[in-house]
Amino acid sequence: MKRIVFTGGTGKAGRHVVPYLQGKGYQILNVDLKPLDLPGVNTLVTDLTDSGATFNALTTHFGFDGFEAGRPAQAPDAVVHFAAIPRVLIEPDNVTFAANVVSTYNVI
Ligand SMILES: NC(=O)c1ccc[n+]([C@@H]2O[C@H](COP(=O)([O-])OP(=O)(O)OC[C@H]3O[C@@H](n4cnc5c(N)ncnc54)[C@H](O)[C@@H]3O)[C@@H](O)[C@H]2O)c1
Repeated sequence: MKRIVFTGGTGKAGRHVVPYLQGKGYQILNVDLKPLDLPGVNTLVTDLTDSGATFNALTTHFGFDGFEAGRPAQAPDAVVHFAAIPRVLIEPDNVTFAANVVSTYNVI
């Protein structure tokens, strides 16, 4: 089963794409500031403007079964990066810049 780290999966676009990918058989870890209420998909509440938190989020187990396997977390097969502030005038510009530019740098 391929494993995808999906950022911003709780948002307007992500909350449609995550169940679609899940239905195609992918295992997904949602990484977002807010939880997604979707059985089978864990949300790791993460601020992606924090580089250390981003590094940990992209290198962790997807759920408790990963710990029970007794092995280190495997690298994800793919990252889908939707987390963002989707336009100006939602948050102050410096917050939008950090969410959209610094976060993307950290994910890359
Ligand atoms: N909604 C659309 O129709 C549409 C169309 C084209 C492109 N997009 C693009 O898709 C992306 C997502 O858009 P959306 O409409 O789903 O936005 P949204 O605001 O509904 O969702 C964005 C998600 O990102 C999360 N997020 C924001 N900052 C974060 C941070 N620092 N760390 C972790 N998570 C963070 C939010 O909590 C939220 O769940 C944007 O880049 C947008 O430009 C959206």
